[in-house]
Amino acid sequence: MDFKHYSVLLNETIDNLNIKPDGIYVDGTLGGAGHSSHIAAKLSDGGRLFGIDQDEDAIKAASERLRPYEDKVTIIRDNYENAVSRIKELGVNEVDGIILDLGVSSFQLDNEERGFSYRYDTPLDMRMDRRQELTAREIVNEFSEMELFHIIKNYGEDKFAKNIAKHIVANRKQKPIETTFELNEIIKAAIPARMREKGGHPSKRTFQALRIACNRELEVLENSLDGMIDFLAPGGRICVITFHSLEDRIVKNNFRKNENPCTCPPEIPICVCGKKSKGKVITRKPILPSEKELEENSRSKSAKLRVFEKITK
Ligand SMILES: C[S@@+](CC[C@H](N)C(=O)[O-])C[C@H]1O[C@@H](n2cnc3c(N)ncnc32)[C@H](O)[C@@H]1O
Repeated sequence: MDFKHYSVLLNETIDNLNIKPDGIYVDGTLGGAGHSSHIAAKLSDGGRLFGIDQDEDAIKAASERLRPYEDKVTIIRDNYENAVSRIKELGVNEVDGIILDLGVSSFQLDNEERGFSYRYDTPLDMRMDRRQELTAREIVNEFSEMELFHIIKNYGEDKFAKNIAKHIVANRKQKPIETTFELNEIIKAAIPARMREKGGHPSKRTFQALRIACNRELEVLENSLDGMIDFLAPGGRICVITFHSLEDRIVKNNFRKNENPCTCPPEIPICVCGKKSKGKVITRKPILPSEKELEENSRSKSAKLRVFEKITK
């Protein structure tokens, strides 16, 4: 299977990284190296790119695509939450730019056997890193009704979360829920018929929720941004592309906090908490895809790019 993936907000991200030919860059979500191949093409022999992905197939596809630049690229299979420590181990203490293009690739979504999509009848899986033990199957069959409710409500923002969780638990008492299509049927039955026509496929939100939970997507993002900003050299930039409001809120709030971390009450005239700004938010409003991109790629629809620049000393 070819690694097909339309790189979202490609020019906007590359422009905002302000790439210096001899700089050091990190792509924490390498995928098919769509963004990374453009970064690598701008680097001189003195520059370096670290590309990270937790998915074995992405690593293979990216290694192939980046072969023309192999002298200046280091590829690491890991979770991007370990990016800073993995790169420091290689003797690098700061970098000039970092990009995160979050979520799954079209390649993962369209690859039936990965179990990410409600469109194909396959075993429930949804792991980006298949070395991990927890799968969507285990979440669906073993988590409590309350845990399922919270996952579907918080990560899927589905109005029918309570009923879906209830139906899942009732069904799995008869027999374990093994496949995406079995789960589709259960979700469909939990949503009132007149509501099913609205808001796309009935499984969309629950599948998103299970994927986020299975891969700890929000926790990883939340735990990584501060360390990545600390790892930037003065004037270095981090560009993050998000695909839903839960991710975008984390990035927006984190960048704002790093710009203005002071926790002193507003009535105190001078800062006593001692927390200093780490830089500035470049994108007061997120950058959105152009009309042309939206026409060419439906996955860009919900994409937002936010950029933060490290303070220059
Ligand atoms: C949207 S795709 C990136 C596509 C890439 N920018 C391109 O243009 O080809 C996201 C990739 O990030 C990887 N990924 C998502 N979360 C990750 C994490 N926490 N750690 C490592 N890789 C992650 C996925 O496996 C997937 O390959």
